[in-house]
Amino acid sequence: MPLPKAELHLHIEGTLEPELAFALAARNGITLPYADTEELRRAYSFSDLQSFLDLYYALMAVLRTEDDFADLADAYLARAAEQGVRHAEIFFDPQAHTARGVPLGTVVQGLTRALARAEERYGISTRLIMCFLRDQSAESALETFEAARPYFDRISGIGLDSAEVGNPPAKFREVYRRAAEAGLRRVAHAGEEGPAGYITEALDVLGVERIDHGLRCLEDADLVDRLVREQIPLTLCPLSNVRLRCIDTLADHPLRTMLAAGLLVTVNSDDPAYFGGYVDDNFRAVEAALDLDPETLRLLAANSFRASFLDDERHALLLAEVAAYEFGRTVA
Ligand code: ADE
Ligand code: ZN
Repeated sequence: MPLPKAELHLHIEGTLEPELAFALAARNGITLPYADTEELRRAYSFSDLQSFLDLYYALMAVLRTEDDFADLADAYLARAAEQGVRHAEIFFDPQAHTARGVPLGTVVQGLTRALARAEERYGISTRLIMCFLRDQSAESALETFEAARPYFDRISGIGLDSAEVGNPPAKFREVYRRAAEAGLRRVAHAGEEGPAGYITEALDVLGVERIDHGLRCLEDADLVDRLVREQIPLTLCPLSNVRLRCIDTLADHPLRTMLAAGLLVTVNSDDPAYFGGYVDDNFRAVEAALDLDPETLRLLAANSFRASFLDDERHALLLAEVAAYEFGRTVA
C-alpha cells in the first residue's frame, strides 16, 4: 500500500484519460479529431501552459451529461485509491462547460454523485473547489459565482486557474470578497508561469489560504520569509512543471530547497492524464530524481493533511496513519 496522502491540486477535467475520452465521445455521438488513443497520446507534447490548455479545453467536448461527469470523477477516485489518496480536494472549471451549453447543475450533480460515494467505496474523503478561468472576464467569474449559489452546500471553496501571465489575481478581487462573505475557502494558482508578485497579490488582495504551484516564490526572499512565517501551503506539481516546461528536468525541481527553507510544501498531480502520473507517481518521481529519504516522504504526506481543509477529527486520524506507515512493504 502506498503512503497515505491528500491530493490538494487536482483538476478533475485533467484526469480524462484517452480511453475514457473515446468512450464518452462514442456515447455522445462526437467525433474526435484523432484516429485513436495512441494518436491522441502523441498530442501530449507541450511547450508551455497555453499549449496544454488548448488541448485540455478541446477534449472537454466529450463531457456532456451528468453521467459523464460522474464517470470521470469515479474513474479518478478509483485510481487515487490505488495511489494511497485518503483525502482529495478536487478542482473543476464550470465556465469551460457552461460556455459549451452544459448547465452548471449537470456538472455539479454529476461530480457530487461520484464524490458522495467516495468515502464508502474508496475510503477517500473529498471537497469540491470551483475554479474561475482567469483569462475570462471578472464579470464572467461573478456570474458563475452567483449561478453556483444553489450548490454552495456541495462546494467548499473557490480557486483561480488557466492562463496566468497577464491575468493577475487582483482582477478577481470582488468574486473572492463574495466567496469570503459566503464562508467559502479560497485558493488560487500563482507563481506557476507568472511572477512572484502574483503570489503576494493573491495573499493580500484575494485573501487566499493556500497557493497552487507557488514555484516562483523563490525569486523573492521576503516572500519566502513570509510564506514560512505564516505557513502558507504551496501545492507543488512536479511532473506538471516538467511537462509544461516551468523547469527543465525533475532533477532541477526546487522541492528540496523549499523544504529546507521551511516552506509548507505538498506534492500533487495537477492534470495526471496529461502529465504522465497520478499523485503517488509524482512522489516516486521526486523520490528518485531528488534522492528523498523515507522521512522526507513522510513529511510531505503529513504536510498534505496539514495543508488540507479537513475537519480536526479526520485530520488527526490521517496524520496518525502517516506516522504509523511502514516503508519498504510496498510490492511494485
Ligand atoms: N488548468 C488545468 N491545469 C492547469 C494548470 N497547471 N495551470 C493553470 N490552469 C490549469
Ligand atoms: Zn493546476
